[in-house]
Parts: sequence; structure tokens; C-alpha cells
Amino acid sequence: MQIIKGTKVITVAQAADLAAIKEAGAIIRRGGLVAFPTETVYGLGGNALDPEAAAKIYAAKGRPSDNPLIVHVARPEEIEDLVADIPMVAEKLIEHFWPGPLTLVFPAANKVPRKTTGGLDTVAIRMPAHPVALAFIEASAYPIAGPSANLSGRPSPTTAQHVIADLAGRIDMIIDSGHTGVGVESTVLDVTVNPPQVLRPGGLTLEQLRQVVPTITVDPTTVQDTPPEIGRVRAPGMKYKHYAPKAEVLVVEGQPENITAKICELYDAYVSCGRRVAIMATAETAPSYKERRVAIVGTRANLGSVAANLFDQLRRFDASDVEGVLAEGVDMVGLGLAVMNRLRKAAGYRIIKA
Ligand code: TXA
Ligand code: MG
Repeated sequence: MQIIKGTKVITVAQAADLAAIKEAGAIIRRGGLVAFPTETVYGLGGNALDPEAAAKIYAAKGRPSDNPLIVHVARPEEIEDLVADIPMVAEKLIEHFWPGPLTLVFPAANKVPRKTTGGLDTVAIRMPAHPVALAFIEASAYPIAGPSANLSGRPSPTTAQHVIADLAGRIDMIIDSGHTGVGVESTVLDVTVNPPQVLRPGGLTLEQLRQVVPTITVDPTTVQDTPPEIGRVRAPGMKYKHYAPKAEVLVVEGQPENITAKICELYDAYVSCGRRVAIMATAETAPSYKERRVAIVGTRANLGSVAANLFDQLRRFDASDVEGVLAEGVDMVGLGLAVMNRLRKAAGYRIIKA
């Protein structure tokens, strides 16, 4: 255990570490805030039924309070108290995909404070697939409101160090369970509409979802290559500039050979103007850049590796002296859909088609 700027940081290697988890649960019951690991990214937890805890979450993150929080449960039955209706399709999806990186949007029960839902009459709920998260939710004896545990506008945290960098001094406790696995946030699916619609692509892929419900659609604003018009975005959080690194990011999209040629050309042009730039590449394409400055984020053969390292890599650029990042686009299949959604936003939709 260490204390950083007044925030307790405890390492919890496994859910059997009961003393630490009980302490975290007690903080939640007292109305405090605890950052906790999930399989996607770290969450900033507070009692989802306490409007004051929700207010504290918004304040700690510097987040606009019309951006609703995801409610985390430890067992599927817990949703009965929180929702006004459970569509049949939701039951089917829960059976297949919970625990896991799937958040479902339901009509909200009255007992869920509108502070938690950002004023909406719907509530987003998920059951995370992480033993420490589940033990923590159980120990707190409340559903846990948990946005990603980053300052608003920063990449979501995939390690406790990321959480410490953003939130130490602003929250009561951080549970450190190492790297999160998936690396991008959960898929948000609205089941109040028929057919259900993906509001945010994420850790559970569209292909996986459609194996169970083939008619599922995707909010087009989440997959377009131009900035979404604010009025059209259906998940309130998707309209804000997110994941914005300090360096200017440019995404180059197309076939890998065309991407590498274009990036070399842009890189050399920047360098000749005296700008410090770096390339965010994949293992397959990295050799094409020769002696240029390259960070390998993952492999094209396994886009899960890109998802897992994306936010950490963006934070590394922040901590370095680079002024510009030339990022390779990847195919928008599987986890590539979530990766490209986050990357295009990080780039403020500065996209070059190679
Ligand atoms: O993987 C995740 O989902 C992580 C971990 C901690 O569980 N959480 C997370 O929460 O990413 P957050 O708050 O950073 O993102 C929640 C997204 C936002 O885009 C928000 O607008 C949307 O879900 N959302 C939440 N409630 C909603 C609702 N009732 N209707 C539509 N969108 C909603
Ligand atoms: Mg977030």
C-alpha cells in the first residue's frame, strides 16, 4: 500500500485478497470513490444509487454532467432493480456475453438517480469480466457507477499508473491489478430500440454480437471518417473530443503499402521543417520506415494487440517530446472498428487517405 497525494493505492493480485477489497467496498458505502480494474479499462467507481457520489465522479474527472455513467453489476439478476423493462433480446445477449465487454442501455427504473444517467430516462449497465471488479462490486453491496478512470479528454487508463497520473489526489483509493486485457472500452448497445443499435463500438465485436442477434445495427456517426454532427450522436459521451493526446495526431488510412509510402513522405516533410514526429506502426509495416522514429502498437494479424496497447501508446507520446504522430489506420473489422473509432477521435478527424 502507498499513499500518493492522499489517494491510497493498493495492489490486489487476486479476488481472494479480501481485506483490501472489503476496504474498497467500505469506501463506496461511505460515499467515496475507488478506481478499479475491469477487463477493458480502469473504472472510477462510486455508489450508482447515490446522486452525491455521481456528482463527485463528474467533479473528479472534470466531466460534463450530461454525459451518463455506466452502472456495473456483479450478477445479471441485479439489473431487475435498476431497469423498467428487460427486452427479450437483452436476456439473450446477457446469457451469451456477460460477464464481458458489453454495456446494454435499458429504460431506467425510478430508483436510479438521474444524476447517474446524465439526466436520461435510460441506464447503461454492464457486468465486467474481471474477478477483482466483481469482488469489489459485491463487497460494496451497491451497483457501481463507473466511467473510465481518466481525466476528461485523456485516453482511458489501462494501468493503475495511468489512473495515478490523472486522478491521484482527487479520489479515495486506486485498486492496482496490473494491465487491463482488452484495452478499449466496452461496446455500448441500445436495447430500447428494435433492432438494437451499437452506440459505441468496443471490446465486444460487431461480428460476435451479430452471431447472436444478426439484425443489430451501428450508429453511423461512430464509424464515419468525418466529425459527427453533435445532434446526431446517440451516446452522449461520443460527442466530446476524447482520447486527445498533446501531440497532433494524423491518421493515414488505406492499403498497408500505400499507408507506409504516404507516412514516409509526410514524415520526411515534417522533419525537414524541424518538427519532431513519430510513427505509430504495426509490427508488419514497421520495417518499411527504416531509421525513422517508430513505435509499434501491435500487429495487423491480431488487432486485439493494437486495442490492448493503443491508449498506453498515446500516453507515451504525451510523455515524450513528439509534436506530431503519424498513425497507421487498420482494417475496420473485429476490434479494428473500436480502434479506428478511438484513433480518428484522437486525431480530431485529421485523416489522410493513402
Ligand atoms: O469499458 C467500459 O465501458 C469502461 C469500464 C470502466 O467499464 N467504462 C466506460 O465508461 O468507458 P465511460 O463513462 O467512459 O463511457 C460510457 C459511454 C459514454 O459514451 C456514454 O455517453 C455512454 O457510454 N452511455 C452511458 N449511459 C448511456 C445511456 N443511458 N444512453 C446512451 N449512452 C450512454
Ligand atoms: Mg471514458
